[in-house]
Amino acid sequence: MKKVCLLVAVAIVFTRGGAFAHEGEVHGKKHSDAQMDKFHRMMPMYAQAQAKIKGALEKGDVATVASESEKILATIEDLKKSRPHKNPKHLGTFRKIADAFAADVRATATMARRGDVTGAGAAFRKAEGRCNECHAGFRD
Ligand code: HEC
Repeated sequence: MKKVCLLVAVAIVFTRGGAFAHEGEVHGKKHSDAQMDKFHRMMPMYAQAQAKIKGALEKGDVATVASESEKILATIEDLKKSRPHKNPKHLGTFRKIADAFAADVRATATMARRGDVTGAGAAFRKAEGRCNECHAGFRD
C-alpha cells in the first residue's frame, strides 16, 4: 500500500516536473489565492523529498536525509496557513496533523544529523503516516 502511494506520488512528480520548474505556471487552472498556489507547489516537493529521503535511508546517506527533511520543515508554516478544498471546516484537524507531521520530520532530521539511520527511518515512517492521514481527510 505504502509502496503504491509512493509510486503514484513519484509518477505525479515526474509528469508535472516540467510545470513545477516554472513558478506561476503550475497547474492549468489559475488560483486567485496565492497561499493555495504555494500549497499546490508544496505537495509535489514533498513527494520529491520523500523519494530522496527513502533512497538516502537505504544507502545510509544521513546528510541527504537531514537536508531533505529540512526542506520540508521550511514549508510547515505555509502548510499550516493553507486551506484544503476538501473539508475546509475541519481546519483545526488539518493543522494538528500538520503539527504532528512537522514533529516527525523534525525527529527524522535530528536523528539523521546524529548519524542514527534506524531512528531516522522509524521517524520518517511515522511522518509518512501523517501524509496518508491528512490525504485521507483533506485530499479530493
Ligand atoms: C496537513 C495535511 C497534509 C500533509 C501532512 C501532507 N499532505 Fe499532501 N496533500 C494534502 C492535500 C489537502 C492535498 C490536495 C491538494 C489540493 O487541494 O489540490 C495534497 C496533495 C498531495 C499530492 C498531489 C499534488 C497535486 O498537485 O495535486 C501529493 C503528491 C502529495 N500531497 C504528497 C504528500 C507527501 C509525500 C506528504 C508527506 C511527506 C504529504 N503530501 C503530506 C495535504 C497534506
